[in-house]
Amino acid sequence: MSETIMSTLEENRSFNPPQGHKGHISSLDEYFSIHEQFKSDFDGTWRTLAHEHLSWSEPFTRVLDRSKAPFFRWFDGGKLNLSENCLDRHVEAGLGDRTAIIWEAEAGEVRRISYQELLDDVCKAANVIKEIGVEAGDRVIIYMPMIPEAAIAMLACARIGAIHSVVFGAFSPQALHDRIQDAEAKLVITADGGGRRGGIHAMKPGVDEALSGTCLSVQHVLVVRHAGNAIEWNAGRDIDWHQALKFQPAVCPPLAVDSEHPLFILYTSGSTGKPKGILHSTAGYLLWASLTMRWSFDFRPESDLFWCTADIGWITGHTYSVYGPLANGGTTVMYEGVPTYPDPGRLWKICADHGVTIFYTAPTAIRALKKAGDEWPNKHDLSSLRVLGTVGEPINPEAWMWYHDVIGKTRCPIVDTWWQTETGGHMIAPLPFATPTKPGSATLALPGIDVEVVDEHGKPVSEGGGMLVIRQPWPAMLRGIWGDDQRYIDTYWKKFDGRYYFAGDGARKDKDGYIWFMGRVDDVLNVSGHRLGTMEIESALASHPAVAEAAVVGRPDELKGEAICAFVVLKCKPGDKLIAELRVHVAREIGPIAKPDDIRFANSLPKTRSGKIMRRLLRDIAAGRDITSDISTLEDQSVVLQLQQPGKA
Ligand code: WT7
Repeated sequence: MSETIMSTLEENRSFNPPQGHKGHISSLDEYFSIHEQFKSDFDGTWRTLAHEHLSWSEPFTRVLDRSKAPFFRWFDGGKLNLSENCLDRHVEAGLGDRTAIIWEAEAGEVRRISYQELLDDVCKAANVIKEIGVEAGDRVIIYMPMIPEAAIAMLACARIGAIHSVVFGAFSPQALHDRIQDAEAKLVITADGGGRRGGIHAMKPGVDEALSGTCLSVQHVLVVRHAGNAIEWNAGRDIDWHQALKFQPAVCPPLAVDSEHPLFILYTSGSTGKPKGILHSTAGYLLWASLTMRWSFDFRPESDLFWCTADIGWITGHTYSVYGPLANGGTTVMYEGVPTYPDPGRLWKICADHGVTIFYTAPTAIRALKKAGDEWPNKHDLSSLRVLGTVGEPINPEAWMWYHDVIGKTRCPIVDTWWQTETGGHMIAPLPFATPTKPGSATLALPGIDVEVVDEHGKPVSEGGGMLVIRQPWPAMLRGIWGDDQRYIDTYWKKFDGRYYFAGDGARKDKDGYIWFMGRVDDVLNVSGHRLGTMEIESALASHPAVAEAAVVGRPDELKGEAICAFVVLKCKPGDKLIAELRVHVAREIGPIAKPDDIRFANSLPKTRSGKIMRRLLRDIAAGRDITSDISTLEDQSVVLQLQQPGKA
């Protein structure tokens, strides 16, 4: 738990929602009355919302089946198709000419894709994927830059009932390989490369490398030629996206699937073991993606221009760059490039050029752009903005205030959204035109969501901190971990005997019932809003021939939220270049985001009598704080002194 986060506990500023605009939920009274509706008729309220917001091929017969808890089933008996809900129904309603996606490349090229064009391309892509032999239920890996074809690929999978698994484009070939293996994917969809910092980030070679080992399940690779970098072509396996789409009809009947049909797998880090494939299903996920767009952002599809800066490799990109905006028939912005290229005004320029009205990004980006100076946002006309969102980690009040004052000119509500890959969509967030906000608090649970802060025994804690739990199922909840039911139960439900969903976050409730997040209570790190398991980084380090043992902890970092600090025991004497080599090694195993910021060597790691690494001690050492752990039982106390010496990265 970092100091910057703890400082939020003393925060007592409060901001009333802007006046003069009626939000989808327009007052706290209305908010509480919807909560009451859920309380008095949980199933009935969800039933009404599911009828109102989704278009069904066959109506569902049951709202929620709890009989196999914690494997909950929503909207059983119903059939629908997600791509039909995101595309066909809008085109049929006469919105074919409305822009679905505005895409901007780093070099400045802009593409506007209408709903009709998007539907045509999704149908063509779906036909190609079908012809390749992919059937409903088969897994498809999507490893792509932020280009419209990535969204088209996702929607095309959904159209034929294939399960997509998007792998973040900056993950290493090794990480890609592991995910392909775990999902037993039949097809990989990729691009030659993507634009990044004025150059090209090659992607297809990474796929070739990932497939060079034992990924026997993959039969074909569909390649979008986009960046123009030279690539090797594996004839017989590789298929050119544009060539293949060219000859397909722009018609592909959407497959009506069961409500609970799996929609996607998205891998995320846990405190133990390999990344886990979080499984989401169709109807409940889409309903919540669609609803939260309206509730948390007050989204108006006919007049808003919505921009979520997240990459589609993360859940935020799934729910709020693609599915949420499109389910509502709105317009979403996609940007392929880095936020600070060619200068730190780039995001603000895009907002001004296109007239973005709702902007959604991460605290780490806000802190970096704040540091770059007010002159950058001040160069651009940001008057179109009306709602500002944040996600991924607790936002420190300083960053919140800057976002509020300098970007929103005190006019725009700040919507701090707490949720997880597992929750599918927002869970705790202010309603922009109803909930007073406090800098650093995600405020209150959304309607229909039942959260509590509890102690070790599951008892609500009125004062002080505790753990966040969710007490009732919700439609977009994960349906499991791909291929590992037991791990699903152990990770989320065991802690409170199957009664509550355990989120893994430390939190505190203030006198108004507002929730303040205080960081993870498990061994999961949050580095620039990216979730990483300490174990993953430790195993990556341990796979280097020079390393005997490694322990990884987080330490507070002004920009990244948390930085990665690794304590390493070597098999040999450290050479000059070893620190740099270990960092490169971790990047190769996982991806550049997992590179330790700080590596320290010692003869041994501090362990308890039972052989457990003393992580709290390591966290104190990493942060340069006074040591709060009892080290009297340590066999070799000199190791503490050794570990306090920072290495040079
Ligand atoms: C973890 C989930 C949900 C999309 C992005 C991250 C942290 C997320 C907030 C917030 C405080 C937050 C939590 C959570 N987190 N949003 N607004 N305030 N903490 O998804 O990679 O699944 O990570 O991110 O620790 O458990 P994820």
